[in-house]
Amino acid sequence: MSIKIHFTSSDIENLKKVDKINLINSITGIKAGNLIGTVSPNGQYNVAVFSSVVHLGSSPALLGFILRPDDEVPRHTYLNIKATGKFSLNSIHADFAQNAHQTSGKYPAEISEFEACDLPMCFYPGHDMPFVAGSERQLAMRLVDDMFIPHNGTRLIVAAIDEIILKQDILQSNFRVDFEQSQELGIAGLNSYYQLKHEASFPYARPE
Ligand SMILES: Cc1cc2nc3c(=O)[nH]c(=O)nc-3n(C[C@H](O)[C@H](O)[C@H](O)COP(=O)(O)O)c2cc1C
Repeated sequence: MSIKIHFTSSDIENLKKVDKINLINSITGIKAGNLIGTVSPNGQYNVAVFSSVVHLGSSPALLGFILRPDDEVPRHTYLNIKATGKFSLNSIHADFAQNAHQTSGKYPAEISEFEACDLPMCFYPGHDMPFVAGSERQLAMRLVDDMFIPHNGTRLIVAAIDEIILKQDILQSNFRVDFEQSQELGIAGLNSYYQLKHEASFPYARPE
């Protein structure tokens, strides 16, 4: 018989800080792994890892991500997005997972994580922000809303997709992205990276 462990809300509240962070950050399951690339108004490039990117809707094509409170340290990604209205989203490939993870370090504004973490960048016509050269899934994003969440001081950044750039062999004929083929990684918690294996695809579900 399998044993189940229960954590009530007061058990969770009483956990040691690091145990609570580990449990609650991973409890929603595997999340998308993305590197957000930005440029400041004076041309300083920035890239950082984010695991909270979510689909908000297809028409118009909108995505969102959660930004942590900015009261302790300046959040360069946020400052750059607010100043320029633009950012790139880039997948994390198994080959550069450690470099991607390193971008979460608190680097000063004048240091580009592209250089400090050895992640080559690239550019596309019509966009000023940098992309991660090794990423097989790259999106050019435009800020459309910045919603403060008063309960914990986080922000939901809402952005429109301006352009999608995909390595040709990861796009299936039905326009789904093949995440097993792309070998991009998912994220659990704040330091665990997972490979993705396709299990099954099912037709649109109808009650009958
Ligand atoms: C695996 C992982 C996922 C993360 N996801 C987020 C996230 O979704 N939102 C967030 O605000 N910070 C997240 N962070 C923290 C940022 O990467 C970190 O604060 C980084 O220093 C921000 O860089 P910046 O100051 O250049 O914007 C994550 C860190 C790691 C290691």
